[in-house]
Amino acid sequence: MKVQALPSVEGNFNLKNYEEAAESFDWSTVEQQFTWSETGKLNLAYEAIDRHVSGDRANKVALYYSDANRDEQYTFEDMKKYSNKAGNILRDAGVKKGDRVFIFMPRSPELYFAVLGAIKIGAIVGPLFEAFMEGAVRDRLEDSDAKVLVTTPALLERVPVGDLPNLESVFIIDESYEENGPYLNFLTRLNGANEDLDIEWVDREDGLILHYTSGSTGKPKGVLHVHNAMLQHYQTAKWVLDLQEDDIYWCTADPGWVTGTSYGIFGPWLVGATNVIRGGRFSPQDWYETLERYKVTVWYSAPTAFRMLMSAGDEVLKKYDLSSLRHLLSVGEPLNPEVVRWGMKVFDLRIHDTWWMTETGAQIICNYPCMEIRPGSMGKPIPGVKAAIIDDQGNELPPNRMGNLAIQKGWPSMMRTVWNNEEKYKSYFEIEGWYVSGDSAYMDEDGYFWFQGRIDDVIMTAGERVGPFEVESKLVEHPAVAEAGVIGKPDPVRGEIIKAFIALRDGYEVSDELQEDIRNFVKKGLAAHAAPREIEFRDKLPKTRSGKIMRRVLKAWELDLPTGDLSTMED
Ligand code: WT7
Repeated sequence: MKVQALPSVEGNFNLKNYEEAAESFDWSTVEQQFTWSETGKLNLAYEAIDRHVSGDRANKVALYYSDANRDEQYTFEDMKKYSNKAGNILRDAGVKKGDRVFIFMPRSPELYFAVLGAIKIGAIVGPLFEAFMEGAVRDRLEDSDAKVLVTTPALLERVPVGDLPNLESVFIIDESYEENGPYLNFLTRLNGANEDLDIEWVDREDGLILHYTSGSTGKPKGVLHVHNAMLQHYQTAKWVLDLQEDDIYWCTADPGWVTGTSYGIFGPWLVGATNVIRGGRFSPQDWYETLERYKVTVWYSAPTAFRMLMSAGDEVLKKYDLSSLRHLLSVGEPLNPEVVRWGMKVFDLRIHDTWWMTETGAQIICNYPCMEIRPGSMGKPIPGVKAAIIDDQGNELPPNRMGNLAIQKGWPSMMRTVWNNEEKYKSYFEIEGWYVSGDSAYMDEDGYFWFQGRIDDVIMTAGERVGPFEVESKLVEHPAVAEAGVIGKPDPVRGEIIKAFIALRDGYEVSDELQEDIRNFVKKGLAAHAAPREIEFRDKLPKTRSGKIMRRVLKAWELDLPTGDLSTMED
């Protein structure tokens, strides 16, 4: 693959010489950035907020928040006050160190107060994407034994409180909500709460956040990260996001996903940056307006979003003054060279791809401002972390050979367990010394990594990871569905779309209404983004003799590829 490289650019970057840093970097030097290296008192939320108040950023804007109805700003001092209050009201509700506090709501300032407040009292935060439906919410609260939930009146109907005996309190974000039983009013309590908080000092290995993410089999898994991850959040916010004192930073991801916490909360605030949060849904006008209005300088988004902006046309874009932008980044799925070229054309800036996963907790393979970019490549591992392409026995492969993308075990923000599922956790580390990502890739002679695909069947649709098994399980709950097989089908805008192959039960006839009904069933039971955009009915699905749906065969049918070895298929 030969693509024209985009040369490194001149500038005063936080990382000036990649090669040098990659050779000599030592993580213990990052510890000195934090108060705990002197006091021994450690808590990520303290370092992200309070430390800046004691320093000289008390009056610096930490958060610009806006949506269709609200337009607010909060300094670091304000953030300290409100997160302290949130910590106090959660503690009053009985939350103790290590308890799981779930946050299920659309973006709003209160979401950020609640997350930081929970962390300040040593709780483990479980953020849930607002689009999750009852089944998905139940699975996650049940698996994690959540003690407290913070949500909004509109989402409350999707929380099966009665089925969750360990859920003690539900905070509702609504001024006029009348408290009863386990239902508490978040806003009135927040108003009345003390502004001072006894922070719970924790160990660097204590739990911080639990992100549920999809695999190809089984229910979503709870990936646990610990306070120690702050080392990597901080350092990558410097090197990769290149955040500097005057930057206005916007990460478009929702905190329901790991990008929206690691780089929507932790990274930017650990380095004391000004963070823009825009609520509401995507629209090209709205996004360009947000960039223009706040004079955003550093912007972190996803290929899907860039492609949607591309397809909205450059005329829309020309109406806005986006000259404040100086650094663009992308994550979530392959960043097509086409999109990089578009970025060069319309912003006159390179879009910097970054590769990482929920499980890695922070960026791993990235393109840096000080470095040449090869469009289509994810870049190089961050200094201090070793990545490699290995075969199934753990041998490192030479350049240009495709294999498993693996990371040497032990980087600071590595997940520490899969909740309630140590076996699953161990399955990532079956090759001695390595974390095996499930992605296939190759490395070129110069150390740039090139993504090739997922090795398992996980679907990446519009930047969101969807496990085929979870969708299939939901599909077969529908009365008409006998069997279902789900695959990702390549799509120019969404990366992949979800396609379901379905065999109906006897007595059901194929119809447009039935198709729509099945789609809605998944939408309501799981989440809108998990509903199949395409459904194809078949008399029978390809299965192994042991009864496993052969998604690889479905995919081959769909894409007109050779089906490969069919020896395990039932006849
Ligand atoms: C999977 C992880 C970490 C935040 C977003 C997704 C894919 C991620 C890239 C990239 C190609 C990418 C991989 C990975 N992915 N970034 N730059 N190029 N693929 O987190 O939901 O845990 O998904 O997303 O397949 O394994 P996630």
